[in-house]
Amino acid sequence: MLLEAINIKKRFISGEGYLEVLKGADLTLEKGVLAVLSGQSGSGKSTLLYILGGLISPDEGRIEFKGLDINRFSQLEYERLRNKNVGFVFQMHHLMPDFTALENIMMPALIAGIGRHEAAGRAGELLSALSIYNRKDHYPNQLSGGEQQRTAVARALINSPDLILADEPTGNLDKENADSLIKLFAELVDTTGVSAIIATHNPELVEIGQIKFRLAEGRIVGKQV
Ligand SMILES: Nc1ncnc2c1ncn2[C@@H]1O[C@H](COP(=O)(O)OP(=O)(O)O)[C@@H](O)[C@H]1O
Ligand SMILES: [Mg+2]
Repeated sequence: MLLEAINIKKRFISGEGYLEVLKGADLTLEKGVLAVLSGQSGSGKSTLLYILGGLISPDEGRIEFKGLDINRFSQLEYERLRNKNVGFVFQMHHLMPDFTALENIMMPALIAGIGRHEAAGRAGELLSALSIYNRKDHYPNQLSGGEQQRTAVARALINSPDLILADEPTGNLDKENADSLIKLFAELVDTTGVSAIIATHNPELVEIGQIKFRLAEGRIVGKQV
């Protein structure tokens, strides 16, 4: 088992009281599986992804990653684990504007203590694999939306993570670029054995999900295989 989330609860303070977003969400994920997470806007998809990736803490519940209870980790230990094992892709690419595509992709490797030369080599390989090597010295604002998302995917992959968490990655793309990103995710899972959880409204992306999680009323309600 790669990832197990048990009874995850999360509420936010809102005007008059609390907004209970997650009310006991459970999920498990094996290695090498492409899972999609659907649910209405506001159902808590982003919140759940951020909790699974350790970007925010749940109020209650337990998350095990490769059999390790991550609640027991210190912040620093957890950040290290996340840097090496989890890659994030967001709806907006969140690339750093003052760095080129190659430098953006290298960044998580440098943070992990990989030397510049090796990091640049790996980043170049990823750019080739994702068919954007000719954009390596471009800054994010010189890239199309599709190229920006490919760069973000390459950045998520540079430390060879076991898990990719993607939050509506096709949300800002036109159909052609969305389709090609979907193909890319499917190939990655097939060829590298990485697992992915992709929050999405895109019916074609939901279609290729090997596991389909759906969030409703704070819980995972559907888990069709
Ligand atoms: N930091 C926050 N503070 C207060 N409310 C939040 C916060 N983050 C999310 N919410 C609320 O929680 C609900 C779920 O949000 P989100 O996880 O972004 O849903 P989804 O990604 O499914 O659209 C929404 O009503 C949102 O407004
Ligand atoms: Mg969201």
